[in-house]
Amino acid sequence: MPTQIAGIKHALSPYCYRCPLGLEYPDCGIRCAQDIEDLIKTTTNGRPAAFMAEPIQGAGGFITPPKEYFEIAVGIIRKYGAVFICDEVQTGWGRTGDKWCGIEHWGVEPEIMTFAKSIANGFPVGATIATEQVANAFTGLSLSTFGGNPISMAAVDVTLEVMQRENTPKRAAERGKQLRDALEELKKRFAFIGDVRGMGLMQGIEFVEDRKTKEPSPRRRPRFSRRRSDRVADRQGGLYGNVIRIAPSC
Ligand SMILES: Cc1ncc(COP(=O)(O)O)c(C=O)c1O
Repeated sequence: MPTQIAGIKHALSPYCYRCPLGLEYPDCGIRCAQDIEDLIKTTTNGRPAAFMAEPIQGAGGFITPPKEYFEIAVGIIRKYGAVFICDEVQTGWGRTGDKWCGIEHWGVEPEIMTFAKSIANGFPVGATIATEQVANAFTGLSLSTFGGNPISMAAVDVTLEVMQRENTPKRAAERGKQLRDALEELKKRFAFIGDVRGMGLMQGIEFVEDRKTKEPSPRRRPRFSRRRSDRVADRQGGLYGNVIRIAPSC
């Protein structure tokens, strides 16, 4: 039974490899996104505050929505007065290739965006940005003990300077293509690779017992974890823990 959190409703995941509605893209008509309207009508008071999503689901197993997903989803939630909060903690700063932010690939503009991780190359920094209208609506007093820490802010400055100089989005696209091509080759050779997905240098491999049944196979994991010595950052993820997430340095 999934965890229920008061006030939070979970939309269907745009998980094409294991479509929650049992449909096939593109004949599905992106029902997973269309369903957000039913979700609002049937499980909320009709006035949701926000829709929060990652452009590519990180811990969820690098689930990469179809190209139409965000335009439909955000169109619906705006109709009901909600804002779009985009979590760029994993997808931000060039990771997905060619763009600085993951959501730029989907052609929608969030009202609020959150960042962390690569923004300061490992220093503890989190950042939230918002449109002027949303930011000005927040009038309460607030503070953060470590907010604006000078050392962390210096790390942000230098990290962003290096990323701009080295054109990280472009590098991530180029290296990401190499990685993806190699993973697609592996998929041809090994039947236990059910799916390869992601963008740029954010690529996931989903392991299965059998391509037809798609039975998840977390057992494959230990073989890959030894590759840490190759300096390839990988993490286990996905609904069944059967997805290796590869996100090497850009
Ligand atoms: C997509 C995503 N959002 C938010 C967070 C939380 O970020 P933080 O640990 O900086 O609060 C994480 C952490 O891994 C994450 O992967």
